Amino acid sequence: MIQELAARAGLSLALTVLLLCSILRDAAGSRRPALRDEDLVLVRATCEKRLDLAHATARAGRPSSALRVVYVVDTPALAARLNGHVAREPRLNETYLSWPDRPDPRKPGDSRVAMAPWLSHKALGGGGYKWLLYGDDDTYFFLDSVRELLRDYDPDLPYVVTDVLWHKRKRYLSEAPRCLPCHVEPAYVEKAKMRPDKDPPKRPAGAPSLQFHQPPIPPPGCPCTPELACEFTLNVTGGRQALTKPIPRKWSPETKYWGFPEGYPSKCDYPHFHGGSGVLVSVGAMRKVSYEAALECYYDDTDKLTAKPGSLKADAHGDRMTSLCFWMNGVALTDPGLGLSQHEHMNQAGHVFDSRAGSIGALERALKEPLSEAWLWSIMFMGAVHVGHHAKSIDMTWQLAQLYPKARAYAQEELKRKGVLRLGELDAQVLRRGGKWTWDADGGRWDWAPGPGGKEDGEEEEEEEHGAAGKAAALATWNDVDAALGGA
Ligand SMILES: *[C@@H]1O[C@H](CO)[C@@H](O)[C@H](O)[C@H]1NC(C)=O
Ligand SMILES: *[C@@H]1O[C@H](CO)[C@@H](O)[C@H](O)[C@H]1NC(C)=O
Repeated sequence: MIQELAARAGLSLALTVLLLCSILRDAAGSRRPALRDEDLVLVRATCEKRLDLAHATARAGRPSSALRVVYVVDTPALAARLNGHVAREPRLNETYLSWPDRPDPRKPGDSRVAMAPWLSHKALGGGGYKWLLYGDDDTYFFLDSVRELLRDYDPDLPYVVTDVLWHKRKRYLSEAPRCLPCHVEPAYVEKAKMRPDKDPPKRPAGAPSLQFHQPPIPPPGCPCTPELACEFTLNVTGGRQALTKPIPRKWSPETKYWGFPEGYPSKCDYPHFHGGSGVLVSVGAMRKVSYEAALECYYDDTDKLTAKPGSLKADAHGDRMTSLCFWMNGVALTDPGLGLSQHEHMNQAGHVFDSRAGSIGALERALKEPLSEAWLWSIMFMGAVHVGHHAKSIDMTWQLAQLYPKARAYAQEELKRKGVLRLGELDAQVLRRGGKWTWDADGGRWDWAPGPGGKEDGEEEEEEEHGAAGKAAALATWNDVDAALGGA
């Protein structure tokens, strides 16, 4: 339906986006079924030298053999040998594909990294899964948290999800072109602007406190197109006149050096995700960019697999090329929206990728000391961590896999005990019409109360009504919230 609507040439983009938002938002009030192991596929490119690391980050803590793993290695002979091994141990449920190095000796594996999602999608028969968990061979995904994070996303929409966006040479700039997930309700967008910063920069003793103002909040993208993401950035940086200029803005040194490819779709430079931090790609996004289109993204000659020496295709990093490929094909990055913050760098407390809770030290601490709610929530929805490639990476990975389930079970118990388990940011994003979230600054949490039904929230009068209807209407237990949100 999305493609059909978007293809209607007569509609302006803004109208299309509006229309889609209202169609999809009505469906968003009810919860989607929880994601199962067979819905998720781990995808990584690697090479013979790093196979042990790639295996550790894929196999450690894998919940069941229904969660598939696709590796793309450097030679067909190696892939054949490893597939032979898997044939003897089917419960590994691993598939090995291969893709050649590119000629540039400095970053030989980067076109393999860039092709990995498309090679995997093809090997999986073009579907039969919902999400690719795509990262480098030293990226470790926290699978239960990923499931929690993605529970309300529609995997048939084109989603490439991350909150680590490189833009203007910075990693967490809040003006970076992006959208929020489609199911995020307007009430959350409004409240997120007011939410106090949970992780303000440290100030020396005696220094006056810093005053932060409303942060830019990206629009829900239904779907997230480069045009929408770009307009957001231009709006919040005062650069709207760029929309009328014939040539798109160049913000990154790489674009200044390599230029934009032919047919570049937007008036802004594209941001890119960080491969090491990991990224979540929906089956809808994979369907939007064909295998042939991906080959065009990475090669000038798609039969010989060659690109002009010195060009972006020959020299750029895999994550930059993949981000550009999605962008060229109409898919911009979606920010889960949990790290939106009033200061420039996004709120580490709410980060899904590069989460401050995603380290051995933090998880050990979680099991020893009482933690604030912000930390507990981080453990609940952190997505992945970049373990890196060094002598201790493999040990670290197995240690993370040991600690994580314990820390998560503890976090869940604690949140339940505090009576806030279903009152987190993710819950706040899917408020049904008629209810209301308020930010409780003292408790540092969202409070939800169901409305009398049908009414839009955010009106003063209604607030009084809620008061009058009595405190009984305010929900404290997660069973009530589940029931009100349509059941889990
Ligand atoms: C591999 O994963 C698929 C999809 O989850 C599943 O249908 C299949 O049974 C799994 N194979 C094994 C041997 O577990
Ligand atoms: C940008 O600003 C224009 C004009 O104020 C507004 O109509 C539009 O919805 C805004 N777009 C985004 C994506 O913020």
